[in-house]
Amino acid sequence: MKKLIITAITALSLAAPVAFSAGGGTTYPNEKANVNLANQESLQNGAKLYLNYCAGCHSMEYVRYSRIAQDLGLTEEQVMANLVVGDQKFGDPIKKSMTKSYAKKVFGVDPLDLSLAARVRGEDWLYNYLTSFYADPSRPYGMNNTVFPDVGMPHILADLQGEQVLTEEWVAAESAIKAAKNVIADANATDAEKSEANASLAEAEEAKAQLSAEGGIFVQTQEGELTAEEYKEEMRDLVAFMAYTANPVKLQSQSMGIWAILFLLLLLVPAYFLKKEFWKDIH
Ligand code: HEC
Repeated sequence: MKKLIITAITALSLAAPVAFSAGGGTTYPNEKANVNLANQESLQNGAKLYLNYCAGCHSMEYVRYSRIAQDLGLTEEQVMANLVVGDQKFGDPIKKSMTKSYAKKVFGVDPLDLSLAARVRGEDWLYNYLTSFYADPSRPYGMNNTVFPDVGMPHILADLQGEQVLTEEWVAAESAIKAAKNVIADANATDAEKSEANASLAEAEEAKAQLSAEGGIFVQTQEGELTAEEYKEEMRDLVAFMAYTANPVKLQSQSMGIWAILFLLLLLVPAYFLKKEFWKDIH
């Protein structure tokens, strides 16, 4: 028995770091999305953003317009007028307007279906991804992303966000990491060189975490239609909508949870008097 417990604990402690790194480790920035699924206005705005900016390339095959209407409190007319893309119908799932072969030709990949993206990547990841496009002349579209390096997606929201570049401090930390990793991987490097490289690697990683916490990753070079704060609010709504599509029953289970708690509270009253009744003769 003891052996079994030890084996189980060892297996768990070995699995934990693997499970952690499966998420891709730390990417920066690492802010919280803090979506609120109870806020219907936020979800409606998120749906509008998705259909206007994303559905050209990314389908949501598991989500029907009619279901969105029902869950987000919209009428068929509102959905048909504001959300539906091209000649799709109210009962259709969200199809992308771009064909697969065209997308392959232009982007080299066929952009994923995003119905479940919030479950696959996580809400925070999506939120940070959408705020982290930066100008990088070495990339085909002149754009890169700190959360998804060398991503093939253009910065489709640049008109809203404007343009940002990496700060000098961030670039310096990144190149220190690269240099240190080169030394660590170099078979000819001495032990002293390697331990020095390890130290500067740790130092640069710490500098990155610090810069991220201080908002020191990017610097704005071009204004967009929105301020930085407004843009983040919009991205929070967009991620809220994606969190909803990844788990539509969550909306219902949340409101059902409130009723369940109310019911239990009500039940407490007769239960209390019943208890008093039962114990009356014993005291
Ligand atoms: C012009 C086409 C296009 C548009 C519009 C577009 N994307 Fe993308 N997106 C891509 C491509 C191409 C990739 C694949 C990138 C790669 O694999 O390098 C991608 C990748 C992604 C990924 C990463 C998927 C993953 O898990 O690997 C997410 C998330 C994403 N897009 C979200 C969005 C959102 C949200 C919008 C709307 C604001 C949007 N995209 C608009 C083309 C587009």
